[in-house]
Amino acid sequence: MKHLLSLHEITVEDIKHLLSLAIKLKKELKSGIPHPLLKGKTLGMIFSKSSTRTRISFEVGMYQLGGYPLFLNSSDIQLGRGETIYDTANVLSRYVDGIMIRTFKHSDVEDLARYSTVPVINGLTDLLHPCQALADLLTIYEYKSKLEGLKLAYIGDGNNVAHSLLHGCSKVGMSIAVATPKGYECNEEIVEHAKTDAQKTGCNVTITHDPVEAIKDADVVYTDTWVSMGKEAEKEQRIKIFKPYQVNKELFSKAKEDAIFLHCLPAYRGFEVTEDVIDGPRSAIFDEAENRLHVQKAIMVILMGERHGADYGQLEF
Ligand code: CP
Ligand code: NVA
Repeated sequence: MKHLLSLHEITVEDIKHLLSLAIKLKKELKSGIPHPLLKGKTLGMIFSKSSTRTRISFEVGMYQLGGYPLFLNSSDIQLGRGETIYDTANVLSRYVDGIMIRTFKHSDVEDLARYSTVPVINGLTDLLHPCQALADLLTIYEYKSKLEGLKLAYIGDGNNVAHSLLHGCSKVGMSIAVATPKGYECNEEIVEHAKTDAQKTGCNVTITHDPVEAIKDADVVYTDTWVSMGKEAEKEQRIKIFKPYQVNKELFSKAKEDAIFLHCLPAYRGFEVTEDVIDGPRSAIFDEAENRLHVQKAIMVILMGERHGADYGQLEF
């Protein structure tokens, strides 16, 4: 693993090492055992979009690992005034040991990684949100003690979060059903990649417009905002179109009795999910948010540290 841009580009072994290290770091943190594995290292964090979880968990994570995080709002650095990605990547690589970026175009992140000599981590693009899906897998593992053989139902917009879940679930052998309105389906190439991986790992990928079909027998029910960052102009239209895809008590009751509810957050109660579900007893949203910290620390240690992922063992799921 040189960068973390997409879960499609990493192996299932990489995921096993990452989750295994995330669990170890989480345990150590809770027991007060320091782990300064990135002492003296610096992470540059470029943000072209808002963030609560990603920014705070990377900053705090870097601090806990003994390193130093630099928050770089893209409109404050010359990148926002037209400096090229090529120059930005080359210059940053002379100062920092790793770069995390949250931006619009996925190809910008790929370019940044191509020109950087230090590891690049995708903190969300319009296409993908791999750090989120890794935190989701860790959360599901904690609740269900396994991943293989489970089923996740994603109901709503075929967006960046849905795409990374498609990659992640199919890689670890977890079936995934995605229900979106017509016109808001997932990227076809990503669905094809997921189907190919699912064939190898023996799970299913279901793409439908019917939320009831998707949620049947689900162990995990997932939704995300109907209006992702950059889509604000479509808000009114989307709210009308997505209404039948709301995860409410009635729809949630059609999943398995012990199904958990996940949402990457930020959530908009009364739109994609109702309060009784997101604030109900089977919601795991805050564990999920916490796990961003542990998983991203593992990502940084594996990409920027002195040892390799395999040195930290591998989780069996
Ligand atoms: N889930 C997530 O990435 O949250 P933020 O937008 O707050 O970083
Ligand atoms: N799909 C959302 C995720 C936010 C974390 C967005 O892109 O805005």
